[in-house]
Amino acid sequence: MRHVHLIDHPLVQHKLTLMRRKDASTNSFRRLLNELAMLMTYEVTRDMPLHEIEIETPLESMKAKAIDGKKLVFVSILRAGTGILDGMLSVVPGARVGHIGLYRDPKTLVAVEYYFKVPLDMNERDVVVVDPMLATGNSAIAAVERIKELQPRSIKFVCLLTCPEGIKAFHETHPDIPIYTAAIDRQLNEHGYILPGLGDAGDRIFGTK
Ligand code: URA
Repeated sequence: MRHVHLIDHPLVQHKLTLMRRKDASTNSFRRLLNELAMLMTYEVTRDMPLHEIEIETPLESMKAKAIDGKKLVFVSILRAGTGILDGMLSVVPGARVGHIGLYRDPKTLVAVEYYFKVPLDMNERDVVVVDPMLATGNSAIAAVERIKELQPRSIKFVCLLTCPEGIKAFHETHPDIPIYTAAIDRQLNEHGYILPGLGDAGDRIFGTK
């Protein structure tokens, strides 16, 4: 599938399996999400630009490679996206963070925006939009539409899980935006949940059910 990066590393797949289990505690779900986010960030940042800086080793000076973490912005779709942020920031601590508040209208499943805060100078930054579940695609589509208005250097979308319906809907509107995911599940159910999935990611991260 064009523009879909399936992160099939054994560690990622193993941790995702542990998260899916219905008897995983809130504590272990959150810890695993944190670890998965770190591992996924490794793949998502693979093409990050490097520049050279002058440093001193104990033996001599050299030009060494460095990233400019500040140019990266992780934009979390509230509230479940927040669960991924800590892991990503522990790997790229200098990254900036944005938040988009969207809720799914329970009847129409359409995304409604209630909060939007991102760093300044977005046109100089690379954006990674994060949400654990790309299900109907409505929130992801709306979030990326808002981010595109600010004309960043690049945009990527990262989720833990998606399904064929979510990918199709997202790429119908945003064919240019790559999706990074740990799994493509079978289907959506009539309530907009991914099957077999892992349930409601927000509830499982925050222990609200
Ligand atoms: N959001 C979730 O948290 N889970 C799903 O399966 C779909 C959307």
